[in-house]
Amino acid sequence: MSKRIAILTSGGDAPGMNACIRAVIIACQKAGHELYGYLHGYNGLVNQEYISLSFDTTHNLIQQGGTILHSARCKTFETDDGAQKSAENLSKLAIDTLIVIGGDGSFRGLKHLSTFWSGQTIGIPGTIDNDINGTDATIGYYTAIDTAMSSIDKVRDTADAFERVFLVEVMGRHAGFLALNAALSSAADYVLLPELFEGCEQELDNIICQIKAQRALKGTVSFIVVVAENVWPGGLSALSTALNAKGIDDVRPVTLGHVQRGGSPVSEDRLLATHLGAYAVSLVGSENTNIMVGEVNKLPVVVPLDTCWQNKPLNSAQVDIIRSLMNARYD
Ligand code: F6P
Repeated sequence: MSKRIAILTSGGDAPGMNACIRAVIIACQKAGHELYGYLHGYNGLVNQEYISLSFDTTHNLIQQGGTILHSARCKTFETDDGAQKSAENLSKLAIDTLIVIGGDGSFRGLKHLSTFWSGQTIGIPGTIDNDINGTDATIGYYTAIDTAMSSIDKVRDTADAFERVFLVEVMGRHAGFLALNAALSSAADYVLLPELFEGCEQELDNIICQIKAQRALKGTVSFIVVVAENVWPGGLSALSTALNAKGIDDVRPVTLGHVQRGGSPVSEDRLLATHLGAYAVSLVGSENTNIMVGEVNKLPVVVPLDTCWQNKPLNSAQVDIIRSLMNARYD
C-alpha cells in the first residue's frame, strides 16, 4: 500500500549518505510511495522545512560526498517541546514513516521522538566513526579509512625525508575503529586507541621504546603514531611535549580533521548505502518500528533502535594484529 515517507540526515555527515538517499528515492518511486526530505537534520522537522524527492534528484547522486539534505546537530529537538512540535509537523504532513540516516545521537533523538509520535521510525547507520552497535559497518566509514590512509601515506613521504616522528590524529569521537584501520592500512608504527589505552605513562614508555628499537635496527627512521581523537589528554601538542621531555625531538603533529568526512564515497560505502536504503524502504508499512537496519556478514539485519548505542567492541582479530605488528615492544 502506498505510504508517505520522510527522510533526513542528521549529525556528522558521511560519504555515502547521498547514495543512500538515492536508493531510498528510487525504492519509494518503484513501490509507489511519496517521499519528502526534511532539511538541516532535525531542524527541518522542528521548523517544517522540507522538499519533495523524486527520480529527477537522483542523477549523479551516488558519487557525491556530503548530503543534499544538509545536516546538523539540533539542540531544540532534544527537548520535549522540540520533539512534540516535530511530531505535530509529521502528523500535519501525514507522514507514515520517518527514515533517519545518522549516528547514535541521531538515533537517540529518533527514539525520543517516538514517545510523541506513533508513526514508523527507521534508522540507517551513517557515520565515519563506525561506533553503532548491531551493524558491521556504517555508511561513510570505509571512505574515511581510505582518506585517512592516503593522508598518512603522504605524511610518510615527508617523515621519511626528514627522519622525523609524526603524530597523526584521526577522528572517531570516542571509538577507535577508524584510527585502527587507518593505522593498519598505512603501516603506521604505533596506534593509540581509546579501547586499548594503557595510560599516558605506559603508552609513552611503549612509544619511546619502539622508536629507540627501530632506530637501533635501521638507523634514524621516520616513525608515525596514529592517535585516535580524544584519547590523549591535551591532544597532540601535549603528547608532542611529553615526547620532547623524554628526549624525542623534532616531533610534528598533524590533525586530519574534517577532511575525513568529505569526498566521493568508495565502492564499499556506495554498496552499503544502496543495500540499506533499499532494505529500509522494503520494511515500510511492516510491524517493525523503532528499528535500525544494518548489515552483518553482508546480510541485512533489523535491530532495536535502543541497542544501537550499546558498546561496540573492536574486531578482536584486528586487535591481535595491532598487538603483534604495531604496538609490540622490542625490549
Ligand atoms: O561523528 C562524526 C564526527 O566527525 C566525529 O568523528 C567527530 O568527533 C565529530 O563528528 C566532529 O563533530 P563536528 O563536525 O561537530 O565538529
